[in-house]
Amino acid sequence: MPAVVVLGAQWGDEGKGKATDQLGSRVDYVVKFNGGNNAGHTVVIDGEKYALHLLPSGILSPGVTPVIGNGVVVDLEVLFGELDAIEARGVDTSRLLVSGGAHLIAGYHRTIDKVTERFLGKRRIGTTGRGIGPAYADKISRVGLRVWDLFDEHILTQKVEGALAQKNHLLVKVYNRRAITVEETVEELLRYADRLRPMVTDTAVVLNDALDRGETVLFEAGQATMLDVDHGTYPFVTSSSATAGGACTGSGVGPTRIDRVVGVIKAYTTRVGEGPFPTELFDDDGEWLRKTGGEYGTTTGRPRRCGWYDAVVARYASRVNGLTDLVVTKLDVLTGRETVPVCVAYDVDGVRYDELPTDQTLFHHAKPIYEELPGWWEDISGCRTFEDLPVNAQRYIEALEQMSGCRISAIGVGPGREATISRHDLLD
Ligand code: GDP
Ligand code: IMO
Ligand code: MG
Repeated sequence: MPAVVVLGAQWGDEGKGKATDQLGSRVDYVVKFNGGNNAGHTVVIDGEKYALHLLPSGILSPGVTPVIGNGVVVDLEVLFGELDAIEARGVDTSRLLVSGGAHLIAGYHRTIDKVTERFLGKRRIGTTGRGIGPAYADKISRVGLRVWDLFDEHILTQKVEGALAQKNHLLVKVYNRRAITVEETVEELLRYADRLRPMVTDTAVVLNDALDRGETVLFEAGQATMLDVDHGTYPFVTSSSATAGGACTGSGVGPTRIDRVVGVIKAYTTRVGEGPFPTELFDDDGEWLRKTGGEYGTTTGRPRRCGWYDAVVARYASRVNGLTDLVVTKLDVLTGRETVPVCVAYDVDGVRYDELPTDQTLFHHAKPIYEELPGWWEDISGCRTFEDLPVNAQRYIEALEQMSGCRISAIGVGPGREATISRHDLLD
Protein backbone atom coordinates (compact mmCIF):
# COMPACT_ATOMS: atom_id res chain seq x y z
CA MET A 1 0.00 0.00 0.00
CA PRO A 2 2.21 2.86 -1.22
CA ALA A 3 0.46 6.20 -0.48
CA VAL A 4 -1.71 6.93 2.56
CA VAL A 5 -3.09 10.24 3.83
CA VAL A 6 -3.70 10.63 7.59
CA LEU A 7 -5.86 13.63 8.47
CA GLY A 8 -8.10 15.07 11.18
CA ALA A 9 -11.85 14.58 10.82
CA GLN A 10 -12.95 17.18 13.41
CA TRP A 11 -11.40 20.50 14.61
CA GLY A 12 -7.87 19.21 15.26
CA ASP A 13 -6.02 17.39 18.04
CA GLU A 14 -7.67 14.07 17.21
CA GLY A 15 -4.42 12.16 17.75
CA LYS A 16 -2.97 12.34 14.22
CA GLY A 17 0.56 12.40 15.62
CA LYS A 18 0.08 9.14 17.48
CA ALA A 19 -1.58 7.49 14.45
CA THR A 20 1.30 8.54 12.18
CA ASP A 21 3.93 7.49 14.68
CA GLN A 22 2.35 4.06 15.04
CA LEU A 23 2.72 3.38 11.33
CA GLY A 24 6.28 4.78 11.40
CA SER A 25 8.08 1.45 11.48
CA ARG A 26 6.29 0.41 8.26
CA VAL A 27 6.60 3.52 6.09
CA ASP A 28 9.53 5.03 4.20
CA TYR A 29 8.49 8.71 4.05
CA VAL A 30 6.26 10.90 6.25
CA VAL A 31 5.26 14.17 4.57
CA LYS A 32 3.83 17.23 6.27
CA PHE A 33 1.89 18.94 3.49
CA ASN A 34 0.02 21.87 5.07
CA GLY A 35 0.10 24.29 7.98
CA GLY A 36 3.12 25.15 10.08
CA ASN A 37 3.90 25.44 13.76
CA ASN A 38 0.25 26.10 14.57
CA ALA A 39 0.09 22.29 14.81
CA GLY A 40 0.88 20.43 18.01
CA HIS A 41 1.19 16.65 17.91
CA THR A 42 1.92 14.72 21.08
CA VAL A 43 3.55 11.34 20.67
CA VAL A 44 4.23 9.05 23.63
CA ILE A 45 6.91 6.36 23.20
CA ASP A 46 7.77 4.10 26.15
CA GLY A 47 6.32 6.71 28.51
CA GLU A 48 8.46 9.51 26.95
CA LYS A 49 6.42 12.43 25.64
CA TYR A 50 7.38 14.36 22.48
CA ALA A 51 5.52 17.52 21.34
CA LEU A 52 6.05 18.17 17.63
CA HIS A 53 4.95 21.36 15.87
CA LEU A 54 6.69 21.88 12.56
CA LEU A 55 8.41 18.53 12.18
CA PRO A 56 6.48 15.58 10.72
CA SER A 57 5.74 12.94 13.38
CA GLY A 58 7.73 10.45 11.28
CA ILE A 59 10.92 12.10 12.56
CA LEU A 60 10.69 9.82 15.62
CA SER A 61 10.92 6.62 13.56
CA PRO A 62 14.50 5.57 12.71
CA GLY A 63 13.80 4.26 9.20
CA VAL A 64 11.64 7.14 8.01
CA THR A 65 12.63 10.09 5.82
CA PRO A 66 10.59 13.05 7.10
CA VAL A 67 9.61 15.63 4.48
CA ILE A 68 8.32 19.19 4.79
CA GLY A 69 6.33 19.68 1.61
CA ASN A 70 5.74 22.76 -0.53
CA GLY A 71 2.32 23.34 1.08
CA VAL A 72 3.84 24.11 4.49
CA VAL A 73 4.75 27.53 5.92
CA VAL A 74 8.11 27.37 7.70
CA ASP A 75 9.28 29.47 10.63
CA LEU A 76 13.04 28.87 10.51
CA GLU A 77 13.73 29.71 14.14
CA VAL A 78 11.04 27.26 15.23
CA LEU A 79 12.32 24.60 12.82
CA PHE A 80 15.86 24.70 14.17
CA GLY A 81 14.71 25.10 17.77
CA GLU A 82 12.65 21.94 17.40
CA LEU A 83 15.44 20.06 15.64
CA ASP A 84 17.95 20.99 18.36
CA ALA A 85 15.54 20.00 21.12
CA ILE A 86 14.80 16.54 19.77
CA GLU A 87 18.42 15.92 18.77
CA ALA A 88 19.35 16.67 22.39
CA ARG A 89 17.02 13.77 23.31
CA GLY A 90 18.94 11.41 21.05
CA VAL A 91 16.70 11.48 17.96
CA ASP A 92 18.54 11.36 14.62
CA THR A 93 17.14 14.15 12.44
CA SER A 94 19.68 13.97 9.63
CA ARG A 95 17.28 12.64 6.98
CA LEU A 96 14.89 15.62 7.07
CA LEU A 97 14.10 17.05 3.61
CA VAL A 98 12.52 20.46 3.02
CA SER A 99 10.81 21.57 -0.18
CA GLY A 100 12.36 24.64 -1.80
CA GLY A 101 8.81 25.68 -2.66
CA ALA A 102 7.64 25.90 0.96
CA HIS A 103 6.88 29.44 2.11
CA LEU A 104 8.66 31.23 4.95
CA ILE A 105 7.12 32.88 7.99
CA ALA A 106 8.89 36.18 8.71
CA GLY A 107 8.68 38.34 11.83
CA TYR A 108 6.17 40.63 10.13
CA HIS A 109 3.77 37.72 9.62
CA ARG A 110 3.77 36.98 13.34
CA THR A 111 3.28 40.66 14.15
CA ILE A 112 0.40 41.04 11.70
CA ASP A 113 -1.27 37.85 13.01
CA LYS A 114 -1.31 39.26 16.54
CA VAL A 115 -2.35 42.83 15.72
CA THR A 116 -5.10 41.64 13.37
CA GLU A 117 -6.60 39.46 16.09
CA ARG A 118 -6.54 42.39 18.50
CA PHE A 119 -8.14 44.61 15.85
CA LEU A 120 -10.90 42.06 15.19
CA GLY A 121 -11.92 42.11 18.86
CA LYS A 122 -15.10 40.08 19.31
CA ARG A 123 -14.80 38.82 15.73
CA ARG A 124 -11.34 37.33 16.32
CA ILE A 125 -10.51 33.81 15.07
CA GLY A 126 -8.53 32.79 18.15
CA THR A 127 -5.44 31.98 16.06
CA THR A 128 -2.30 30.44 17.48
CA GLY A 129 -0.50 33.76 16.79
CA ARG A 130 2.26 32.04 14.83
CA GLY A 131 1.89 34.11 11.64
CA ILE A 132 0.21 31.31 9.70
CA GLY A 133 -2.68 33.29 8.16
CA PRO A 134 -0.55 36.27 7.04
CA ALA A 135 2.09 33.96 5.50
CA TYR A 136 -0.56 32.09 3.46
CA ALA A 137 -2.21 35.42 2.55
CA ASP A 138 1.12 36.55 1.05
CA LYS A 139 1.45 33.24 -0.80
CA ILE A 140 -1.95 33.71 -2.44
CA SER A 141 -1.26 37.42 -3.08
CA ARG A 142 2.02 36.40 -4.77
CA VAL A 143 4.22 38.43 -2.43
CA GLY A 144 5.38 35.46 -0.33
CA LEU A 145 8.95 34.36 0.37
CA ARG A 146 9.94 30.80 -0.48
CA VAL A 147 12.74 28.61 0.84
CA TRP A 148 14.52 28.85 -2.54
CA ASP A 149 14.72 32.65 -2.11
CA LEU A 150 17.07 32.22 0.85
CA PHE A 151 19.86 31.17 -1.48
CA ASP A 152 19.86 34.35 -3.55
CA GLU A 153 20.31 37.30 -1.23
CA HIS A 154 19.60 39.84 -3.98
CA ILE A 155 16.23 38.28 -4.82
CA LEU A 156 15.39 37.78 -1.15
CA THR A 157 16.08 41.46 -0.38
CA GLN A 158 13.98 42.57 -3.35
CA LYS A 159 11.06 40.42 -2.24
CA VAL A 160 11.27 41.57 1.39
CA GLU A 161 11.35 45.20 0.17
CA GLY A 162 8.22 44.58 -1.90
CA ALA A 163 6.38 42.91 0.96
CA LEU A 164 7.35 45.51 3.56
CA ALA A 165 6.43 48.44 1.33
CA GLN A 166 2.79 47.37 1.76
CA LYS A 167 3.03 46.01 5.28
CA ASN A 168 4.65 49.02 6.88
CA HIS A 169 1.76 51.19 5.69
CA LEU A 170 -0.61 48.80 7.39
CA LEU A 171 1.46 48.47 10.57
CA VAL A 172 2.17 52.18 11.01
CA LYS A 173 -0.97 53.86 9.66
CA VAL A 174 -3.69 51.36 10.62
CA TYR A 175 -2.29 49.53 13.62
CA ASN A 176 -0.07 52.27 15.06
CA ARG A 177 2.96 49.98 15.31
CA ARG A 178 6.59 50.65 14.44
CA ALA A 179 7.82 50.01 10.90
CA ILE A 180 9.86 46.84 10.30
CA THR A 181 13.11 47.28 8.38
CA VAL A 182 14.24 45.29 5.35
CA GLU A 183 17.64 44.74 6.97
CA GLU A 184 16.32 43.17 10.18
CA THR A 185 14.03 40.86 8.19
CA VAL A 186 16.70 39.73 5.74
CA GLU A 187 19.13 39.20 8.61
CA GLU A 188 16.55 37.14 10.53
CA LEU A 189 15.88 34.95 7.50
CA LEU A 190 19.49 34.44 6.43
CA ARG A 191 20.58 33.40 9.92
CA TYR A 192 19.61 29.79 9.19
CA ALA A 193 20.19 29.63 5.42
CA ASP A 194 23.47 27.71 5.53
CA ARG A 195 22.14 25.14 7.96
CA LEU A 196 19.01 24.67 5.89
CA ARG A 197 20.71 24.39 2.49
CA PRO A 198 21.64 20.65 2.60
CA MET A 199 18.05 19.68 3.47
CA VAL A 200 16.46 21.59 0.61
CA THR A 201 15.43 19.81 -2.57
CA ASP A 202 12.61 19.27 -5.05
CA THR A 203 10.68 16.99 -2.72
CA ALA A 204 8.01 16.25 -5.36
CA VAL A 205 10.67 14.43 -7.40
CA VAL A 206 11.88 12.55 -4.31
CA LEU A 207 8.36 11.41 -3.40
CA ASN A 208 7.26 10.43 -6.91
CA ASP A 209 10.49 8.46 -7.40
CA ALA A 210 9.90 6.70 -4.10
CA LEU A 211 6.38 5.72 -5.18
CA ASP A 212 7.76 4.49 -8.51
CA ARG A 213 10.06 2.18 -6.52
CA GLY A 214 7.06 0.84 -4.56
CA GLU A 215 8.03 2.56 -1.31
CA THR A 216 5.42 3.69 1.20
CA VAL A 217 4.63 7.38 1.69
CA LEU A 218 2.44 8.68 4.48
CA PHE A 219 1.01 12.20 4.16
CA GLU A 220 0.35 13.69 7.59
CA ALA A 221 -2.10 16.61 7.79
CA GLY A 222 -1.88 19.39 10.31
CA GLN A 223 -5.16 20.85 11.62
CA ALA A 224 -8.32 19.15 10.38
CA THR A 225 -11.31 19.01 8.05
CA MET A 226 -13.43 21.51 10.00
CA LEU A 227 -10.49 23.96 10.06
CA ASP A 228 -9.82 23.60 6.31
CA VAL A 229 -9.92 26.95 4.49
CA ASP A 230 -12.45 25.61 1.93
CA HIS A 231 -14.39 22.92 3.75
CA GLY A 232 -14.19 24.07 7.37
CA THR A 233 -16.33 26.46 9.38
CA TYR A 234 -15.13 29.52 7.46
CA PRO A 235 -14.06 32.13 8.56
CA PHE A 236 -13.22 30.30 11.81
CA VAL A 237 -10.62 28.12 10.11
CA THR A 238 -6.89 27.97 9.51
CA SER A 239 -5.50 29.23 6.20
CA SER A 240 -4.44 25.97 4.53
CA SER A 241 -5.93 22.87 2.93
CA ALA A 242 -6.10 20.29 5.71
CA THR A 243 -8.36 17.94 3.73
CA ALA A 244 -7.25 15.08 1.48
CA GLY A 245 -6.80 17.23 -1.62
CA GLY A 246 -4.22 19.29 0.25
CA ALA A 247 -1.95 16.25 0.35
CA CYS A 248 -1.63 16.48 -3.44
CA THR A 249 -1.21 20.23 -3.88
CA GLY A 250 0.99 20.42 -0.79
CA SER A 251 3.40 17.73 -1.96
CA GLY A 252 3.37 17.51 -5.75
CA VAL A 253 2.02 13.94 -5.78
CA GLY A 254 -1.07 13.49 -7.97
CA PRO A 255 -4.44 12.19 -6.71
CA THR A 256 -4.25 9.03 -8.83
CA ARG A 257 -1.33 7.88 -6.67
CA ILE A 258 -3.18 8.07 -3.32
CA ASP A 259 -4.45 4.67 -2.18
CA ARG A 260 -5.94 5.29 1.23
CA VAL A 261 -7.34 8.27 3.15
CA VAL A 262 -7.51 7.74 6.91
CA GLY A 263 -9.55 10.10 9.09
CA VAL A 264 -8.55 10.35 12.75
CA ILE A 265 -11.49 11.19 15.01
CA LYS A 266 -11.95 11.41 18.78
CA ALA A 267 -14.67 9.39 20.49
CA TYR A 268 -15.96 12.84 21.53
CA THR A 269 -15.16 16.32 20.12
CA THR A 270 -12.85 19.22 20.98
CA ARG A 271 -12.09 22.61 19.47
CA VAL A 272 -9.53 25.34 20.24
CA GLY A 273 -10.14 28.97 19.28
CA GLU A 274 -13.39 30.64 18.25
CA GLY A 275 -16.18 29.48 15.96
CA PRO A 276 -19.30 27.32 15.96
CA PHE A 277 -19.31 23.92 17.69
CA PRO A 278 -22.81 22.41 17.98
CA THR A 279 -22.09 19.69 20.57
CA GLU A 280 -20.03 21.95 22.86
CA LEU A 281 -20.79 21.41 26.57
CA PHE A 282 -20.78 24.26 29.08
CA ASP A 283 -21.66 22.10 32.09
CA ASP A 284 -19.96 19.57 34.38
CA ASP A 285 -19.82 17.01 31.55
CA GLY A 286 -17.66 19.40 29.50
CA GLU A 287 -15.34 19.95 32.44
CA TRP A 288 -15.22 16.18 33.03
CA LEU A 289 -14.18 15.55 29.39
CA ARG A 290 -11.50 18.27 29.62
CA LYS A 291 -10.06 16.85 32.85
CA THR A 292 -10.33 13.17 31.96
CA GLY A 293 -9.06 13.68 28.41
CA GLY A 294 -6.31 16.16 29.39
CA GLU A 295 -7.75 18.59 26.86
CA TYR A 296 -5.29 21.48 26.92
CA GLY A 297 -3.61 22.70 23.71
CA THR A 298 -0.20 21.23 22.81
CA THR A 299 0.80 24.50 21.11
CA THR A 300 -0.78 27.29 23.14
CA GLY A 301 -1.77 25.50 26.35
CA ARG A 302 -5.32 26.87 25.99
CA PRO A 303 -8.12 24.73 27.52
CA ARG A 304 -9.87 22.97 24.65
CA ARG A 305 -13.62 23.37 24.27
CA CYS A 306 -15.20 19.91 24.72
CA GLY A 307 -18.41 18.19 23.57
CA TRP A 308 -19.92 14.88 22.53
CA TYR A 309 -19.24 12.95 19.30
CA ASP A 310 -20.88 14.56 16.30
CA ALA A 311 -21.81 11.99 13.65
CA VAL A 312 -22.95 14.76 11.28
CA VAL A 313 -19.38 16.13 11.28
CA ALA A 314 -18.04 12.59 10.83
CA ARG A 315 -20.26 12.00 7.77
CA TYR A 316 -19.22 15.37 6.34
CA ALA A 317 -15.53 14.55 6.84
CA SER A 318 -16.02 11.13 5.25
CA ARG A 319 -17.57 12.79 2.22
CA VAL A 320 -15.22 15.73 1.56
CA ASN A 321 -12.11 13.60 2.09
CA GLY A 322 -13.28 10.37 0.48
CA LEU A 323 -12.26 8.55 3.67
CA THR A 324 -11.46 4.87 3.38
CA ASP A 325 -10.92 4.35 7.12
CA LEU A 326 -11.56 6.01 10.45
CA VAL A 327 -9.30 5.73 13.49
CA VAL A 328 -11.31 6.49 16.65
CA THR A 329 -9.10 7.78 19.46
CA LYS A 330 -9.52 8.32 23.21
CA LEU A 331 -12.30 5.78 23.70
CA ASP A 332 -10.76 5.20 27.17
CA VAL A 333 -11.74 8.76 28.17
CA LEU A 334 -15.45 7.90 27.96
CA THR A 335 -15.23 5.07 30.52
CA GLY A 336 -17.42 5.43 33.61
CA ARG A 337 -20.73 6.80 32.36
CA GLU A 338 -24.26 5.43 32.52
CA THR A 339 -24.91 6.60 28.95
CA VAL A 340 -22.92 8.43 26.26
CA PRO A 341 -24.78 10.92 24.04
CA VAL A 342 -23.95 11.03 20.32
CA CYS A 343 -25.22 13.76 17.99
CA VAL A 344 -27.05 12.16 15.05
CA ALA A 345 -28.56 15.26 13.38
CA TYR A 346 -29.16 18.98 13.99
CA ASP A 347 -32.20 21.03 14.75
CA VAL A 348 -31.82 24.36 12.96
CA ASP A 349 -34.61 26.75 13.92
CA GLY A 350 -37.11 23.87 14.09
CA VAL A 351 -35.95 22.08 10.92
CA ARG A 352 -34.08 18.75 11.12
CA TYR A 353 -30.77 18.56 9.23
CA ASP A 354 -29.23 15.11 8.74
CA GLU A 355 -26.30 16.60 6.85
CA LEU A 356 -24.10 19.55 7.77
CA PRO A 357 -25.50 22.91 6.61
CA THR A 358 -22.59 24.79 5.03
CA ASP A 359 -24.40 28.13 5.22
CA GLN A 360 -22.60 29.87 8.10
CA THR A 361 -25.77 31.32 9.62
CA LEU A 362 -27.57 27.96 9.65
CA PHE A 363 -24.57 26.17 11.15
CA HIS A 364 -24.31 28.78 13.91
CA HIS A 365 -27.94 27.98 14.81
CA ALA A 366 -27.49 24.18 14.75
CA LYS A 367 -28.58 22.43 17.96
CA PRO A 368 -27.60 18.78 18.41
CA ILE A 369 -30.19 16.00 18.35
CA TYR A 370 -28.75 13.31 20.62
CA GLU A 371 -29.10 9.55 20.84
CA GLU A 372 -28.05 8.08 24.21
CA LEU A 373 -25.89 4.96 23.96
CA PRO A 374 -25.29 2.68 26.98
CA GLY A 375 -21.94 3.28 28.71
CA TRP A 376 -19.35 0.99 30.36
CA TRP A 377 -17.39 1.05 33.62
CA GLU A 378 -14.47 -1.32 33.03
CA ASP A 379 -10.94 0.08 32.52
CA ILE A 380 -10.30 -0.49 28.79
CA SER A 381 -6.74 0.88 28.58
CA GLY A 382 -5.28 -2.65 28.51
CA CYS A 383 -7.60 -3.95 25.75
CA ARG A 384 -5.75 -4.94 22.58
CA THR A 385 -8.48 -6.69 20.56
CA PHE A 386 -12.03 -5.59 19.78
CA GLU A 387 -13.37 -8.58 21.71
CA ASP A 388 -11.42 -7.46 24.83
CA LEU A 389 -13.66 -4.37 25.01
CA PRO A 390 -16.78 -4.44 27.21
CA VAL A 391 -19.87 -5.19 25.11
CA ASN A 392 -21.24 -1.63 25.45
CA ALA A 393 -17.92 -0.15 24.26
CA GLN A 394 -18.10 -2.51 21.25
CA ARG A 395 -21.69 -1.38 20.61
CA TYR A 396 -20.57 2.29 20.87
CA ILE A 397 -17.93 1.76 18.16
CA GLU A 398 -20.38 -0.18 15.97
CA ALA A 399 -22.96 2.61 16.33
CA LEU A 400 -20.35 5.26 15.41
CA GLU A 401 -19.32 3.19 12.41
CA GLN A 402 -22.88 2.88 11.22
CA MET A 403 -23.56 6.64 11.68
CA SER A 404 -20.28 8.01 10.32
CA GLY A 405 -20.25 6.71 6.76
CA CYS A 406 -16.90 4.95 7.03
CA ARG A 407 -15.51 1.79 8.59
CA ILE A 408 -13.59 2.09 11.86
CA SER A 409 -10.24 0.40 11.41
CA ALA A 410 -8.48 1.22 14.67
CA ILE A 411 -9.43 2.33 18.18
CA GLY A 412 -7.21 4.23 20.61
CA VAL A 413 -7.44 3.26 24.27
CA GLY A 414 -4.53 5.29 25.68
CA PRO A 415 -1.81 7.77 24.66
CA GLY A 416 1.03 5.23 24.34
CA ARG A 417 2.20 3.85 20.99
CA GLU A 418 0.97 0.36 21.98
CA ALA A 419 -2.48 1.41 23.26
CA THR A 420 -4.44 0.71 20.10
CA ILE A 421 -6.88 -1.93 18.88
CA SER A 422 -6.46 -2.73 15.20
CA ARG A 423 -9.44 -4.03 13.21
CA HIS A 424 -8.20 -3.51 9.64
CA ASP A 425 -4.59 -2.95 8.59
CA LEU A 426 -4.21 0.68 7.45
CA LEU A 427 -1.34 -0.11 5.09
CA ASP A 428 -2.48 -3.33 3.51
P1 GDP B 1 -2.90 15.80 16.97
O1 GDP B 1 -2.67 17.27 16.88
O2 GDP B 1 -4.03 15.34 16.12
O3 GDP B 1 -1.65 14.99 16.73
O4 GDP B 1 -3.35 15.51 18.48
P2 GDP B 1 -2.71 16.14 19.83
O5 GDP B 1 -1.41 15.47 20.08
O6 GDP B 1 -2.76 17.62 19.80
O7 GDP B 1 -3.80 15.71 20.90
C1 GDP B 1 -4.13 14.38 21.12
C2 GDP B 1 -3.79 14.01 22.58
O8 GDP B 1 -4.41 12.80 22.91
C3 GDP B 1 -2.31 13.79 22.84
O9 GDP B 1 -2.02 14.22 24.14
C4 GDP B 1 -2.14 12.28 22.72
O10 GDP B 1 -1.07 11.78 23.49
C5 GDP B 1 -3.46 11.81 23.27
N1 GDP B 1 -3.98 10.56 22.72
C6 GDP B 1 -3.97 10.13 21.42
N2 GDP B 1 -4.66 8.97 21.30
C7 GDP B 1 -5.15 8.68 22.54
C8 GDP B 1 -5.99 7.65 23.06
O11 GDP B 1 -6.44 6.75 22.36
N3 GDP B 1 -6.29 7.71 24.40
C9 GDP B 1 -5.84 8.70 25.21
N4 GDP B 1 -6.19 8.69 26.50
N5 GDP B 1 -5.04 9.69 24.75
C10 GDP B 1 -4.72 9.70 23.44
P1 IMO C 1 -3.24 20.15 15.11
O1 IMO C 1 -2.40 19.83 13.91
C1 IMO C 1 -6.40 22.60 16.89
C2 IMO C 1 -6.97 26.61 15.18
C3 IMO C 1 -6.67 27.80 16.07
C4 IMO C 1 -7.66 28.81 15.52
C5 IMO C 1 -7.66 28.49 14.01
C6 IMO C 1 -6.77 29.42 13.19
O2 IMO C 1 -2.50 20.02 16.40
O3 IMO C 1 -4.54 19.44 15.08
P2 IMO C 1 -4.12 29.61 12.92
O4 IMO C 1 -3.05 29.92 13.91
O5 IMO C 1 -3.96 28.30 12.23
O6 IMO C 1 -4.35 30.73 11.95
O7 IMO C 1 -5.48 29.53 13.80
O8 IMO C 1 -7.21 27.16 13.89
N1 IMO C 1 -5.87 25.63 15.03
C7 IMO C 1 -5.84 24.43 15.62
N2 IMO C 1 -6.71 23.85 16.49
N3 IMO C 1 -5.34 21.90 16.44
C8 IMO C 1 -4.48 22.45 15.55
O9 IMO C 1 -3.48 21.75 14.97
C9 IMO C 1 -4.69 23.78 15.13
N4 IMO C 1 -4.04 24.62 14.29
C10 IMO C 1 -4.78 25.75 14.23
O10 IMO C 1 -6.89 27.50 17.43
O11 IMO C 1 -8.95 28.52 15.99
MG1 MG D 1 -2.67 18.96 18.11
